[in-house]
Amino acid sequence: MGKLLGIFLIAFALCQVSHSERDWWENGNFYQIYPRSFKDSNGDGIGDLNGILEKLDYVKDIGMDGVWLSPIFQSPMADFGYDISDYTKVQPEYGTTEDLESLIEKAHSLGLHLILDFVPNHTSDEHEWFQRSVANDSYYRDFYIWHDGVINATTGERQPPSNWISQFRYSAWEWNEQRQQYYLHQFGIKQPDLNYRNPNVVEDMKNVLRFWLARGIDGFRIDAVPFLFEADVDPTTGTYPDEPVIADTSSCPDPDDWCHLNHIYTNSLPEIFDIVYQWREVVDQWKLEYDTDTKVLLTEAYTSFENLMRMYGDGVHNGSNIPFNFEMMADLNNQSTASDYDYYVRHWLDNMPEGVYANWVLGNHDNPRLASRFGAQRADLMNIFLQTLPGIAVTYNGEEYGLEDGYVSWEDSVDPQACNADPDTYQKYSRDPERTPFLWDNTKNAGFSTANRTWLPVGQSYESNNVQAQEAAENSHLKIFKKLTGLRKSEPAFSDGDYESVVGDNWLSYRRQAATGDAYYIILNIGNQNVTLNFNELYGYVSGKLEVVASSLQSGLENGQQVDSDSLEAKAYNGYVLRLISEA
Ligand code: NOJ
Repeated sequence: MGKLLGIFLIAFALCQVSHSERDWWENGNFYQIYPRSFKDSNGDGIGDLNGILEKLDYVKDIGMDGVWLSPIFQSPMADFGYDISDYTKVQPEYGTTEDLESLIEKAHSLGLHLILDFVPNHTSDEHEWFQRSVANDSYYRDFYIWHDGVINATTGERQPPSNWISQFRYSAWEWNEQRQQYYLHQFGIKQPDLNYRNPNVVEDMKNVLRFWLARGIDGFRIDAVPFLFEADVDPTTGTYPDEPVIADTSSCPDPDDWCHLNHIYTNSLPEIFDIVYQWREVVDQWKLEYDTDTKVLLTEAYTSFENLMRMYGDGVHNGSNIPFNFEMMADLNNQSTASDYDYYVRHWLDNMPEGVYANWVLGNHDNPRLASRFGAQRADLMNIFLQTLPGIAVTYNGEEYGLEDGYVSWEDSVDPQACNADPDTYQKYSRDPERTPFLWDNTKNAGFSTANRTWLPVGQSYESNNVQAQEAAENSHLKIFKKLTGLRKSEPAFSDGDYESVVGDNWLSYRRQAATGDAYYIILNIGNQNVTLNFNELYGYVSGKLEVVASSLQSGLENGQQVDSDSLEAKAYNGYVLRLISEA
């Protein structure tokens, strides 16, 4: 123990994750494309399907198996596609159904699986269903959540039926003049919530899944699952129950902010699981009936760990193949310690049910980009972490080459979450910085678009740092990423190996070992101090030389270089993947 200077905690965790036959998604690398910002093929300043088609070889080349497109359906774009006015049509600025079919075909020819974004909680208020509901058309009357509101005993005025707050701030109820009732919107005013207590809604939404399955789609990312159900009207009061204010309001003092209430009646109700299981039945049945590749469900749910485990299934029903694991995205930041990193790995691995796969998500279009959240110097370290854990890895487009958030001024802001704030506070809410255009090369608008104005500004310098430059460089974030995804594909240690970890004073090391005995050793020096590690002592039985297989850009090491296993210097903020090459 004496020689392990600086180690204040050692934790070993063995998690056997051996699976013999792998389906395409089970150890998969998934890539989220935000279509508006990926590649504009027609010069209108907005990314589109043909742009994605042009760049699909790139997606294949960086080692992906599945590609999830954020919504591309017809939409007035109040929430940039998460407000759909026709689930079966492609938004014209993104292209046509034929363009989508070409994209599916090309993806399949490259061995990629294409996943669409399914947004079942709400439609746009411009959806025909909502308009017919407003008009009291009998089939659609109860498609949404409507209520007369209540009369305020003091003022005599009509007011919303409950104190529920929208995710985008202010009341979740909006008065509709024509129908003379309030409707519920857990997100924007233009995003009325569907009523999942109406069996016709349930069936019509299943038909949306079938519509796209028939066109060859390989699965769905399901939006906002915890919001699908709300408490029903209380029969004694005839209205909906108010939600309690959070215990410690100092963490969220603004009464108009969603976080001000404890969402016991509007979030993660037990009914949500059965709906997810029903959707799984739809895609499983499709596979059986048409003998296709497995269709997968990826669910978006910011909810408790117990709920995420239940999303996988309940022992009788299967649920989500990939209940997004947001634990690290939500809870790790540039102040986190190595124990925090290890905790979140073991928390999931040790508690997930039998026969399912772990998944790891570090970024998406709703959160600041990795390099901005953890510091640019940790960009490779975070990718090494993501790509060397057992299970499924999900990468948000741009994070493979260390892309940072772009700068978006108040004047250029378009995200409804930003626009509902003000010039002084919008940056706290805005999701625009993580949605700025992709940096392809050093031409106009970073090669994203030839337009004079893009929907969001590029927002950062791209002259020397872009995909093309990183591809041409001797080494780069992108090259490191490709090395990592290649290893995941070729090395059984990564697809089937154990996770055995050692936690030190702000560094984490783990071993991934295949049944054959082949092992890789990972070191993540999360902290700001260099450390010297003795692998012989850390793992007890390692001796001899280690080969550097991959390491952070600023490590100063080359792949293939040999280092002594008893005195390896791990630099601050650097990650390393090593392989034992000889016994001493
Ligand atoms: C989650 C999506 O990721 C987010 O972008 C969107 O605003 C909400 N759901 C509403 O659909």
